[in-house]
Amino acid sequence: MTFRGKRGLQGLLILLGSGAAGAFAWQLAQSPAEKYIAAMDNPHRVLKVDEVIAKLELKPGMIVADIGSGSGSFAIPMAKAIAPDGVLYAVDIDQAMLDHVAARAKEAGVTNIRAVLGEYDDPKLPVKNVDVAFFHRVLHMIEHRQAYLNATARYLAPDGRVVVIDKNREDSPDWMWLNQSDVDTWMAAIGFYPAQHFAVFDDRYFVTYQRPYGKSVLLKKGASKKN
Ligand SMILES: C[S@@+](CC[C@H](N)C(=O)[O-])C[C@H]1O[C@@H](n2cnc3c(N)ncnc32)[C@H](O)[C@@H]1O
Repeated sequence: MTFRGKRGLQGLLILLGSGAAGAFAWQLAQSPAEKYIAAMDNPHRVLKVDEVIAKLELKPGMIVADIGSGSGSFAIPMAKAIAPDGVLYAVDIDQAMLDHVAARAKEAGVTNIRAVLGEYDDPKLPVKNVDVAFFHRVLHMIEHRQAYLNATARYLAPDGRVVVIDKNREDSPDWMWLNQSDVDTWMAAIGFYPAQHFAVFDDRYFVTYQRPYGKSVLLKKGASKKN
């Protein structure tokens, strides 16, 4: 499949996942990046960005990678939360998405975002001290999820967190989603365990994974409870 074809398929998947009409989904599957971006910036998408940022306790100085950053719905506010000295790496495989995020950041006066053109199986981050690697509705789109998570872990600080927000297949009629139990298994294989579960979304799990050492929340009393 060509790159454009893959992006088209992803666009189709997004719209099918959001319950859009089939005819529109088909058109979007053939459309350029602007339409894909418009679908992500649809004001009816439930994102709860402020709640997510609050649960993750993002603070100035942190290093965050928003993987599959898309149109920047999380990247821009997360960058603000970690400013002035924190850095937000916006990672995507689509340069048009990264250009859009850069333009949005410029317009909003946000200067601590770095765009990273990732590879299909590797976010290709330029640093190895990432505090939070964040996946919002992205991991299910990645073909080799376990390989991608393995690659991501190599960029994390010792007590860094991998955050996955995605949807269990039984909670949706669509085939494309990804069960949390699969993510748990892949993460356990590389020594990461579910540290926190946040009940922010009705239709999505929101889990942070950490290694059980250093300043890991796993060592704190009450870890791994629903919050
Ligand atoms: C459904 S969108 C989600 C965007 C954003 N996280 C949000 O929730 O608004 C998925 C994004 O992941 C990107 N993507 C898909 N596969 C990827 C990969 N292997 N590496 C990095 N980004 C990827 C797509 O280009 C797209 O921008």
